[in-house]
Amino acid sequence: MLVSAKEMLNKARDGHYAVGQFNINNLEWTKSILQTAEELKAPVILGVSEGAGKYMCGYDTIVGMVKGMMTGLNITVPVAIHLDHGTFEGAKACINAGFSSIMFDGSHYPIEENIKLTTALVNTCDILGISLEAEVGAIGGEEDGVVGMGECADPKECKQIADLGVTMLAAGIGNIHGKYPANWPGLRFDVLEAIKKEVGDMPLVLHGGTGIPADMIKKAISLGVAKINVNTECQIAFSAAVRKYIEEGKDLVGKGFDPRKVLAPGCEAIKDTVREKMEIFGCIGKA
Ligand code: 13P
Repeated sequence: MLVSAKEMLNKARDGHYAVGQFNINNLEWTKSILQTAEELKAPVILGVSEGAGKYMCGYDTIVGMVKGMMTGLNITVPVAIHLDHGTFEGAKACINAGFSSIMFDGSHYPIEENIKLTTALVNTCDILGISLEAEVGAIGGEEDGVVGMGECADPKECKQIADLGVTMLAAGIGNIHGKYPANWPGLRFDVLEAIKKEVGDMPLVLHGGTGIPADMIKKAISLGVAKINVNTECQIAFSAAVRKYIEEGKDLVGKGFDPRKVLAPGCEAIKDTVREKMEIFGCIGKA
């Protein structure tokens, strides 16, 4: 079922677990994530960055691919196709293409501009039954080779954005996209608690799910996080498995060069990663 993320996230918030957003890059990625979600009876969100959107030949291609796969693979669990860190223009394009969920990331704008642009999307998404994620306070990560320590959102600004009527809110709590540096001090639970106090029932989103220790993830869920984004970890697992296949010379044996064979270990590695994350998030059997 292709659905908005609203109901699955409200259920996750009430049931004290989190739904995983796993970013997709191609057919193999999408298939591996959908198969794992179905096998584990877990709701799932397929994240699409604007870069991945371009790579996959546009948002129409993605919607067509996901819909076709859901029929072809008999997927019965709730699935959302979600724009990840969208611009305003990207959000409009994904709404037109049939995405069921949108993130508009206005966190790099002054708060007044973020409020103005997020507001413009709230009503449209509401009318169309599309869930909308907003962001406050840039989430750190590697930029131009410099790894930050993860920024933190202002809880009062979180309330301002949450009150606009968005479905879910991403707020920096010391999390970072990509690998965490060895001296990363960890998630700021004090900031998360302060945000939760301000936004009440709003499901919170934790970006940068790669490499956050399981105990921190579980604590974040207990404090109101209902959606966790994972991207890099699937990429690392995929490349390592494909590299092993090549390094072992398996592509040189028989028809080992068949792309379906070359990529198969990568797909298994994505499935293992998604399974492992879903276990930690507590969303298995919640579809
Ligand atoms: P990671 O790549 O660190 O897992 O972060 C994913 C993410 O937050 C996508 O929005």
